[in-house]
Amino acid sequence: MCDWAALLLKSLDKTRDMPESRYFQLATVDEDGLPHNRTVVCRGFDEQQSVLWVVTDTRNKKIAELQASPHAAVCWYFAKTREQYRMAVRCRVDTPDTDESLCEQHWQRLSVAARQQFLWGEPGSERTAPKKSLIDHGANTDVLPDHFCVLTLLVESVDYLNLRGNPQQRQFFEKQQGQWHSKALIP
Ligand SMILES: Cc1cc2nc3c(=O)[nH]c(=O)nc-3n(C[C@H](O)[C@H](O)[C@H](O)COP(=O)(O)O)c2cc1C
Repeated sequence: MCDWAALLLKSLDKTRDMPESRYFQLATVDEDGLPHNRTVVCRGFDEQQSVLWVVTDTRNKKIAELQASPHAAVCWYFAKTREQYRMAVRCRVDTPDTDESLCEQHWQRLSVAARQQFLWGEPGSERTAPKKSLIDHGANTDVLPDHFCVLTLLVESVDYLNLRGNPQQRQFFEKQQGQWHSKALIP
C-alpha cells in the first residue's frame, strides 16, 4: 500500500463516527472548459488499487462533463484531524449496462431512503408542484434503475496537507510508470 493510502485509511478510521467525514468535493470541467464542483459521498476506497467509489445518476450534469473529460479533482478535508487531501483523479462511469454487478453491489448497499432519491424524477428539471411529495412509497426500490451509475475514481496524484504542527506537513504523491513517488513540500 502506498503512503498516502495509509494516511487516508488512518483519517477514515479516526473519523469513523462522523458521517460528514465521508463527504468530499468533486470538481469537473465541462466541454467549454468551465469548472463545476459539488459534494459527494465516498462509497468505498480500495487502497491497493488507489480507487474511490461514488454513486450518482446518469442524468446529472457531472456525467456529461465526465464524458467530455474524465479528469476531475477531489478535495477532502477531515475537520477532526485537520488534514486535507487534494487528488487528481480519472473517472470511469459505469451504468447497469456497462457493469451490472458493480452497480447492483452499490445499489444493494444503499438504504431505502437513499434509493428513493433515484426515483424522484429527472434531477435538475423544474419541480412543477413543489408542495407535492416526490416520494413514491409504492415504488419498488429492489430494482436497479437504468440511470443509476457508479463512478470509479482512479487516483493519479495526491497533495496532502496536515495543519497540525508547526511547521505544517505537506507531501505530494504521484504515480509514475506504475510506481508511487513522494516528496515533502513547503506548505
Ligand atoms: C452532503 C452531500 C452529499 C452528497 N452526495 C452525493 C452523491 O454521493 N452523489 C451525487 O450524485 N450527488 C450527491 N450530492 C448532491 C450533489 O452535491 C449535487 O447537488 C448533485 O449531484 C447534482 O450535481 P451535478 O448537477 O453537478 O451533477 C450530495 C450533496 C451533499 C450536500
